[in-house]
Amino acid sequence: MESMGENSKRLQSVFSVFPEAYRHFSETIWPIFKKGPFKTILIFLLFFVAAIIVSLWTNTSLTDGGMLSSFLPSKQSEEIPEFPFNCSNIDISKGCPSGTHHHQNHTSSPSDEECPHYFRWIHENLRPWKERGGITREMVERAKHTANFRLLIVNGTVYVERYSPAFQTRDVFTWWGILQMMRRYPGKLPDLDLMFDCDDQPVIRSDDYKGPLASAPPPLFRYCADDTTLDIVFPDWSFWGWPEVNIKPWGPLSKQLMKANKMKWSKKEPYAHWKGNPYTSQNRLDLLKCNLSRQQDWNARIYVQDWEKETREGFKNSDLTKQCTHRYKIYVEGRGWSVSEKYILACNSLALVVKPRYYDFFSRSLMPLKHYWPIKENDLCRSIKFSVDFGNSHKPVAQEIGNLGSKFVQEELKMEYVYDYMFHLLNEYSKLLMYKPTVPERAVEFCSEIMGCPASGLVKQFMKQAVVMAPSNTDPCNMPPPFNSTTLRAFLDKKENQEKDVQTWENQNGQH
Ligand SMILES: *[C@@H]1O[C@H](CO)[C@@H](O)[C@H](O)[C@H]1NC(C)=O
Ligand SMILES: *[C@@H]1O[C@H](CO)[C@@H](O)[C@H](O)[C@H]1NC(C)=O
Ligand SMILES: *[C@@H]1O[C@H](CO)[C@@H](O)[C@H](O)[C@H]1NC(C)=O
Ligand SMILES: *[C@@H]1O[C@H](CO)[C@@H](O)[C@H](O)[C@H]1NC(C)=O
Ligand SMILES: *[C@@H]1O[C@H](CO)[C@@H](O)[C@H](O)[C@H]1NC(C)=O
Repeated sequence: MESMGENSKRLQSVFSVFPEAYRHFSETIWPIFKKGPFKTILIFLLFFVAAIIVSLWTNTSLTDGGMLSSFLPSKQSEEIPEFPFNCSNIDISKGCPSGTHHHQNHTSSPSDEECPHYFRWIHENLRPWKERGGITREMVERAKHTANFRLLIVNGTVYVERYSPAFQTRDVFTWWGILQMMRRYPGKLPDLDLMFDCDDQPVIRSDDYKGPLASAPPPLFRYCADDTTLDIVFPDWSFWGWPEVNIKPWGPLSKQLMKANKMKWSKKEPYAHWKGNPYTSQNRLDLLKCNLSRQQDWNARIYVQDWEKETREGFKNSDLTKQCTHRYKIYVEGRGWSVSEKYILACNSLALVVKPRYYDFFSRSLMPLKHYWPIKENDLCRSIKFSVDFGNSHKPVAQEIGNLGSKFVQEELKMEYVYDYMFHLLNEYSKLLMYKPTVPERAVEFCSEIMGCPASGLVKQFMKQAVVMAPSNTDPCNMPPPFNSTTLRAFLDKKENQEKDVQTWENQNGQH
C-alpha cells in the first residue's frame, strides 16, 4: 500500500494541469476522502472535479487564440482509436501503473536511414555547452527563472516538476509528446534533467554570455530561437494537438491535408492567401495593407481570423484542409515563429515566406527557391505582387517549388522523424550532463495513463489520435555528422544568395 501522502502527490500530478481545480479538490474534498474508506465515492468525486475543470476553463479569457473552445468532442464522426491501455484497470489515485509503461526489455534493430538534414542543427544548438565541456546542475537550475516546468528522465521514467501554468494547453501537449516518444523508444534514453519554457519568445541572449569572464549560458528548452539567442529548440505542442483552436495532431492532420491538396494547380485561385490573427506582429499588421482594395490589387487576399466567432460557430471557417484553394500561401511570423508554417507548406501551393526572424526545429533547413519563395519584409505588398506575377507567368517553376515544400513536410516532417528529432536532441543533451540527475522532491512521475485516462472532451480525443500504440521495432534514424565550418558557411551562403537573386529580379522588374 502506498501512503496517502504519496497518493495525494500523484493526484496533484494529474490535476496540476488544472491548478485551481486541484486546490479546490485538495482543500475541500480530499480531507473528507482521507478520513474513511470512501472508495466508492472516488469516481463521483472525479466527475465532480471534471465538471469544475470544464467550468473554470471555459471562463478563461485568452489573449491569442480567442476563447477556449468547448472541450466537447467535435461532431465529425471520425475513427478515434482507443488508448492501447485499459483505463478501467487503472486507479489514477495510485499514480502510474508500475512497470507497464517501461518496456525496457523491448528489443529493436538498428535503423538504416540517415536522419533528415535539419537534425544537423541539433549539434549547432548544443555547441555552446559542448565548447564549455558540459552542463552542470547549476547551469540547468539557472534556467528555472522563466521555465514553466522541469522535466527529468531517470531510469527510463519521466518526472515533471511544474513551476507555472503555460498558455492554454501548450505544456499538456508537450508532455504528451514526450510521453509518446518514450512509448516509441522505451528505455533507450539515458537520464536527463531539463528546463522548459512554453512562451513564444527566446530569452537566452548570446551577448550576455560572451567574453572570457562570462558565465555559461543556462540551457533552456522552448519552441523557437533566433540568431541572437541560445534557447534550445524543441517540437511545439501542435504536433500533438491544439484543442483551443481545434487543430488536430499533425499525424492525422497531415494525412488529411495530403488528401485535400490534390486540387489541380490550374483550378486554384491565382492569388496569395493569408488568414490568421494579425494583432501579434508588425509584419502581420503591414500585411493587412496588401489586401485587395478599390485603389490597388497586390494579388493578395487577406482574411482576419476571428477566433471568438470561430469558437462559437464550431470552427467551420477555420478548417485547414479547406485552405489550400490558392496557388500562393503567405507565411508571416506572429509573436515568435508560427505553428502555421507546416500547414501552409503542406498545401501544394507556393509558400511565400516573409523573411522570418525566428526558427523552429526544422525551418533552418528550408531553402528559398527550393521549398518556398522569399518575401522582403520591408516592401511587403510589392514583393508579394511580384512573386504572384512571376509564378503566374512561370507556372512550372512555381508548381515545382510548391510540390517540394509539401514533400518536405510530408516526408521529412512526418511524426516518426519528429520523435527521432526529440530522441536525438535529448540524447545528445544528456551526453553533456556532468552530473547524475536526481528526482526533485516536488516532481511527480508522468505516464500516458495518468494524463490520458482522466482527460475528457477534445483533449482526450486528440491524445487518442496522437497516442503511440507500440514501441518501434527499429531504432531512431542515424544522426548526420555536425556541419564543419566549410559546410555550414556553404549552406548559409547558398540561402543568402538565393534570396539575393529574388531581390535582384524584383528590383529589375521595378525599373521597367
Ligand atoms: C478493461 O478492463 C475491464 C475491467 O478489467 C474489462 O471489463 C474490460 O472488458 C476491459 N476493456 C478492454 C477494451 O479490454
Ligand atoms: C527483462 O530483462 C531482464 C534483465 O535483462 C530479465 O531478467 C527479465 O527476465 C526480462 N523480462 C522479460 C519480460 O523479458
Ligand atoms: C534507478 O535504478 C538504480 C539501479 O537499478 C537504483 O539504484 C535507483 O534507486 C533507481 N532510481 C530511481 C529514482 O528509481
Ligand atoms: C480583404 O478583401 C476581401 C475582398 O474584398 C474582403 O473580403 C476581406 O474582408 C478583406 N480583408 C481584410 C482584412 O480587410
Ligand atoms: C568539411 O566537410 C566536408 C564534407 O564532409 C569535407 O569535404 C571538408 O574537407 C571538411 N572541411 C573541413 C575544414 O574540415
